[in-house]
Amino acid sequence: MAKVSWKPGNMIYPLPAVMVSCRGGDGEDNIITIAWTGTIYTNPPMTYISVRPERHSYQIIKETGEFVINLTTKNLVKAVDFCGVRSGRDLDKFQQMNLTKEEAKVVNAPMIAESPVNIECKVTEVKELGSHHMFLAEVVNVNVEDGLMDENGKFHLSKSNPLVYSHGGYYETGKEIGSFGYSVRKKKRKKKKRKGTS
Ligand SMILES: Cc1cc2nc3c(=O)[nH]c(=O)nc-3n(C[C@H](O)[C@H](O)[C@H](O)COP(=O)(O)O)c2cc1C
Repeated sequence: MAKVSWKPGNMIYPLPAVMVSCRGGDGEDNIITIAWTGTIYTNPPMTYISVRPERHSYQIIKETGEFVINLTTKNLVKAVDFCGVRSGRDLDKFQQMNLTKEEAKVVNAPMIAESPVNIECKVTEVKELGSHHMFLAEVVNVNVEDGLMDENGKFHLSKSNPLVYSHGGYYETGKEIGSFGYSVRKKKRKKKKRKGTS
């Protein structure tokens, strides 16, 4: 199939679009939508968010070294967009989007109650790279919605209808089409019925 070359740019999509909540030294709570985020490694659990220094949230997170990554869902799509196009310098995004504040358990920042997963983070390092500075952070607590847990304690994030961001658009995720390791997993053989048995 023919391909067209584009000038170098970031085209790694889809990505999560998370809402990062933080609390300024004066007690002011804010939310910023972030797509440049991800896992750095598993043990200790390390994550990152890349933030432009001109963002209002940048100063807050730089000063306090604490924030919460709130995962997003189909129901939160309007708030995701709003928190990504309006600044906390001008308005209270919790109030404008009718989002419920919950106190984080380890860090001093609000969590968004409507989000199914709130990941509490402490900054370990700030890498002043290019257009964005990368906050490397340790995950210090994870809060998950108990309603998404089945009777065996298995967590079903997909039931929350997670939202993804892809090249300018927001999408809901579809149905599961495989699971980790399924391509090599041995299929359970169906027992053949023997004649004369029921
Ligand atoms: C889908 C989406 C993803 C975004 N991702 C980032 C990001 O990764 N880093 C960043 O600095 N800004 C990102 N932004 C822009 C900020 O969210 C936006 O400038 C916001 O208004 C900043 O809020 P604040 O001034 O209250 O901090 C994104 C915006 C949208 C809509």
